[in-house]
Amino acid sequence: MNQAPSKNACVIGWPIEHSRSPAIHGYWLEHYKIAGTYTKRAVPPDEISAFLAALGAEGLAGCNVTIPHKEAAFRAAVERAPSATAVGAANTLWLENGRLCAANTDTYGYMSYLALEAEGWDRRDAPVSILGAGGAARAIVYGFLEAGVAEVRIFNRSTERAEAIARDFGPRVKVLPWEQRSRASTEAAVLVNTTSVGLKGAGSLDMDFTDFHPDSIVSDIVYVPLETGLIREARRHGLRTVDGLGMLLHQAVPGFEKWFGVRPEVTDELYDRIAADIEAA
Ligand SMILES: NC(=O)c1ccc[n+]([C@@H]2O[C@H](COP(=O)([O-])OP(=O)(O)OC[C@H]3O[C@@H](n4cnc5c(N)ncnc54)[C@H](OP(=O)(O)O)[C@@H]3O)[C@@H](O)[C@H]2O)c1
Repeated sequence: MNQAPSKNACVIGWPIEHSRSPAIHGYWLEHYKIAGTYTKRAVPPDEISAFLAALGAEGLAGCNVTIPHKEAAFRAAVERAPSATAVGAANTLWLENGRLCAANTDTYGYMSYLALEAEGWDRRDAPVSILGAGGAARAIVYGFLEAGVAEVRIFNRSTERAEAIARDFGPRVKVLPWEQRSRASTEAAVLVNTTSVGLKGAGSLDMDFTDFHPDSIVSDIVYVPLETGLIREARRHGLRTVDGLGMLLHQAVPGFEKWFGVRPEVTDELYDRIAADIEAA
């Protein structure tokens, strides 16, 4: 009997050693008994165009893209999903009839996990607060607007990038001073940290949750450590919380399906395996 031809994908970045994507996709390849590979490749900035042009010739069905190549990947693609266009950056590439296609699956990853972990978040007719205005913030603002949220408030340390998001996404997005992040969020349906504050325990967002609505949900997309200072503080105030690891796992789903032809499931076993890896690091 003929075996199905193997398929190959990878994650590219510079540096790339820290990436947990091979562990996620490796788990699914094994789980679904797929003859394929998923590796990591360190691609320096001056080689990104050549690498993407040779993707098919290298035997790759596509790749994930991380810092600093997400914008270059977006520009190199000839077909762009609305998610990539909204963010201006791509984290997932695949070939379709030899054409390079791009998506940004951070929106899908964040919104899917929020829906699972915080069922009913969207039944509150309340604003959403976003801390940060980088690439991840853009993907999440887009997700909330698509979900029909009436007002998305952005708080960023420096205003320029926040104002650019408001300009690009329109009047439902408001920029508020960083200093007001606690008192202008007390009625928020969801407050999400998209800054890198809290990563590996560094820094503090100094949020005061005292006056928060009891149904407010606090989420952090930083996932190292799994329980960030923000999450710990919100729990101490009895608020529901959503961690950053689920987003990482769910954003991987669409790429795996494109490259390997199976829509994979984010199982508790996968969550526990990556969580253990993070805790051991
Ligand atoms: N869970 C997931 O799947 C997932 C996915 C994507 C990203 N992430 C994580 O999300 C974080 C942001 O990623 P990104 O790509 O959006 O990065 P980015 O484009 O570099 O943006 C970083 C953001 O953090 C803010 N910031 C940095 N240091 C700060 C400080 N000391 N105080 C206040 N604000 C500070 C920046 O503010 P300024 O504009 O003022 O510099 C900016 O808003 C990273 O930690 C990344 O690992 C997680």
